[in-house]
Amino acid sequence: MTAGDVTADGRARVLVDGNEIPLLGFGVWQVRDGRGCEDAVRWALQAGYRHIDTAQAYGNEESVGRALRDSGVRRDDVFITTKFYPRRKDPVAQAQRSLQRLGVDFVDLYIIHWPAGGPTWAWDGMQRAHERGHARSIGVSNYSVAELDELLAVADTPPAVNQVQFSPFEYRRGLLDACEERQVAVEAYSPLGTGRHLGDRAVGEIADRLGRTPAQVLLRWCLQRNLVVLPKSTHQERIEENAQVFDFTLADEDMAALDALDRTAGSDQARERKWW
Ligand SMILES: NC(=O)c1ccc[n+]([C@@H]2O[C@H](COP(=O)([O-])OP(=O)(O)OC[C@H]3O[C@@H](n4cnc5c(N)ncnc54)[C@H](OP(=O)(O)O)[C@@H]3O)[C@@H](O)[C@H]2O)c1
Repeated sequence: MTAGDVTADGRARVLVDGNEIPLLGFGVWQVRDGRGCEDAVRWALQAGYRHIDTAQAYGNEESVGRALRDSGVRRDDVFITTKFYPRRKDPVAQAQRSLQRLGVDFVDLYIIHWPAGGPTWAWDGMQRAHERGHARSIGVSNYSVAELDELLAVADTPPAVNQVQFSPFEYRRGLLDACEERQVAVEAYSPLGTGRHLGDRAVGEIADRLGRTPAQVLLRWCLQRNLVVLPKSTHQERIEENAQVFDFTLADEDMAALDALDRTAGSDQARERKWW
């Protein structure tokens, strides 16, 4: 298996460093630390998710760790991502704090949350976190092609992933193609548009015709576009619904109709509006 290959069960992708990342991940942005987050993560693990996406900035790593321990699912069977909060200085020290909060010996993936202060300064620290075993893979988030190239020019260990806002409405074709060429896996965040894309008429029509839900159609589009996809929900039935995306296929015509919803003109940028 080489970088970019999908595993035989169709559920994971091989990263450039040889590690495997489950294609479906569970996002916990805006899920408050405590009971609500623990329930959501437990339901996700019960529903078959084996990939949890948290961040230092989300303030809920402790709940993610507690839910994982209480779930009965083996640590080694779950892929955990956290993100370096780039307003801090030292990725190694912050990784160690994350590990304490999560109650694990390592995370599977540690990524720079956004390129605050430029795309390269934090990478040395990310590589050190990797070398020390705090993270099995390292990567970035919210990086444009230009920022990725700046980083690749100086990196000893290249980033394995770039996590960006991605959906049919944000079909960043330029960014996706460039990432694939550079063997950087793209992770789709906000694949449902933080809920906003679920009411779209074109998505709804496809869903009705296939006997699926709008969320499932949006997530399936991501999988068929070679993306790792990270939906979030705090409702058990939605968490389960969002995991039922490996038992149907969107036809080429439906993929093309969804592609046409793009509002970024196939951008190679990671964001139209930056918060940093
Ligand atoms: N790296 C970054 O900078 C970055 C930025 C944004 C997001 N992310 C990651 O990506 C994950 C997902 O993105 P997101 O949180 O923006 O949201 P999203 O997954 O695009 O959408 C979540 C929203 O849709 C609703 N929803 C989910 N499934 C549904 C369903 N089946 N039917 C109806 N409504 C449904 C949820 O409501 P309920 O929760 O009430 O069910 C929530 O309001 C985040 O949690 C985070 O892990 C990363």
